Amino acid sequence: MKTPIISPSILSADFANLEKSFKMLNQSDADWVHLDVMDGNFVPNISFGMPVIKSLRKLTDKVFDAHLMIEQPERYIHNFNLVGVDILTVHYETQIHLNRTVDLIKKTGMKAGVALNPHTPVSLLKDIVSELDLVLIMSVNPGYSGQKFIEHTYQKIAEVKNMIEAHNSKTLIEIDGGVNDVNAPKLFAAGADVLVAASYIFNHDNPIKAIRNLKYF
Ligand code: DX5
Ligand code: ZN
Repeated sequence: MKTPIISPSILSADFANLEKSFKMLNQSDADWVHLDVMDGNFVPNISFGMPVIKSLRKLTDKVFDAHLMIEQPERYIHNFNLVGVDILTVHYETQIHLNRTVDLIKKTGMKAGVALNPHTPVSLLKDIVSELDLVLIMSVNPGYSGQKFIEHTYQKIAEVKNMIEAHNSKTLIEIDGGVNDVNAPKLFAAGADVLVAASYIFNHDNPIKAIRNLKYF
């Protein structure tokens, strides 16, 4: 049976005790770990960067799925590769030469993703989608965990899914923001391959069970 890939975002974890969170993630059915990097410019919030990711890399073998909410992310492609990121996602809205950035990411051996803000139309990816390993559809405005899911996301999933199928491409669709046990099955049925969740998992009494709830329904 096909199940969604679950990528817990550590943005809602206790930053004073990340080792404990990684022990939990290692015991769980989480497939990837979602790392939200924020610069205080592209988004109002500031989170963490390369040195933290480098230390976390020692704590797990799970896939590191980095979501860069930073301006000019192309400046740091090499650095994120060096600290052990596996999938590097940049925001469409930060790019003038998206094609060049995607090529640079792939040249390092990392997989390349592009994220879209809620107001950015999926159709803008028409000419590049087949070159992408992943499309990340933001289902909240980026910057914070714990926000309410935007329902229009379902329409965007259908649109991007059509585009991917038309190109016969293997591009994965990742949904990020406000994901919980109620919308996870609907998102998967709509065509999402990867589900990101921060607050639903880390605010749950039993985060291991929360991860299971998102993956098996
Ligand atoms: C938001 C981040 C998300 C966030 C999700 O800017 O990109 O990954 O951590 O948090 P929840 O799941 O609480 O909406
Ligand atoms: Zn994210």
